[in-house]
Amino acid sequence: MASVLVVGGAGYIGSHMVDRLIENGENTVVVDNLSTGHRAAVSDKAKFYEGDVADKDFMRNVFKENPDIDTVIHFAAYSLVGESMHKPLKYFDNNVAGLVKLLEVMKEVGVKNLVFSSSAATYGIPDHMPIKESDPQNPINPYGESKLMMEKIMKWADEAYGIKYVALRYFNVAGAKPDGSIGEDHGPETHLVPIILQVALGEREKLQIYGDDYNTPDGTNIRDYVHPYDLADAHILAMNYLREGNPSDAFNLGSSTGFSNLEMLKAAREVTGKEIPAEIAGRRGGDPDSLVAASDKARKVLGWEPKYDDVHSLIETAWAWHSKHPHGFEDRD
Ligand code: UFG
Repeated sequence: MASVLVVGGAGYIGSHMVDRLIENGENTVVVDNLSTGHRAAVSDKAKFYEGDVADKDFMRNVFKENPDIDTVIHFAAYSLVGESMHKPLKYFDNNVAGLVKLLEVMKEVGVKNLVFSSSAATYGIPDHMPIKESDPQNPINPYGESKLMMEKIMKWADEAYGIKYVALRYFNVAGAKPDGSIGEDHGPETHLVPIILQVALGEREKLQIYGDDYNTPDGTNIRDYVHPYDLADAHILAMNYLREGNPSDAFNLGSSTGFSNLEMLKAAREVTGKEIPAEIAGRRGGDPDSLVAASDKARKVLGWEPKYDDVHSLIETAWAWHSKHPHGFEDRD
């Protein structure tokens, strides 16, 4: 039976991916350098290697020890829009150069399928909503630029070496495994939903909402939230699509519904029953007004059916994780 290699499998989305693969009975191998991921987030049923995707000798050895790997699922990237504005080269080095090294080794060992986590951040400021896959990609931050470069690199690697890929352009990811055993844990945390819930827990004093003068009905940014389990299911469908010999393609993954930052705060207050103090602060660099996905292509071509399309149920799962693990994985390591 074929195996699947998840690079970046100890991160927030990667660990949910590994969990779903195991549930689906896939032989799962994980590579992570633990620079932002957590060893405790990775299922014991996966085979774990600590190391860097850009270290070609290390990666050659992973493929050598696991000759049945036919598909790589790629999460090994830095992903903070705000940080990328200040440290662009960190993003191009880790994300772009890391992918080039991985493709070189995949070419050497003859692994031909790659499922790639791309991003809504590749679109920049869209001129209409919802965003379709065929819309122009003009990123406004280095993170989005790095993911767009990675999409283009995969296209040329397909042309030259026949390495097929599916680029999955996620919108905003939030939520956790419903039993609260794994979830989102970044250090430092910068994402909206975990920060709101840390305020709810009293771990932070208040939420700062970055800007209320955007071109949206309440003036705060609008985002489209998708659950990591729904993302993971889309990756499994994409893996099967490639295993069936289908051509490379890109798909948006979102719920197709936008929520403003103020609406997310309101929903979190309802789910947690907590007051959650908040104030309006200045804008953060690199934030487009609104990002909402048209996801019908993934539904039609891959047969994707997201289950967490209601933002309250998504926040409930995030709350299960944060209330059980107020200090993240730290208290289990
Ligand atoms: N926000 C606040 N206060 C905070 C944190 C965030 O107001 O303390 C706001 C942001 O300004 C933004 C929204 O909440 O308007 C969402 O911000 P996040 O940091 O949670 O997420 P981003 O939209 O910046 O980025 C995320 C991923 C990216 C991905 C993008 C796609 O981190 O990798 O979604 O839309 F590209």
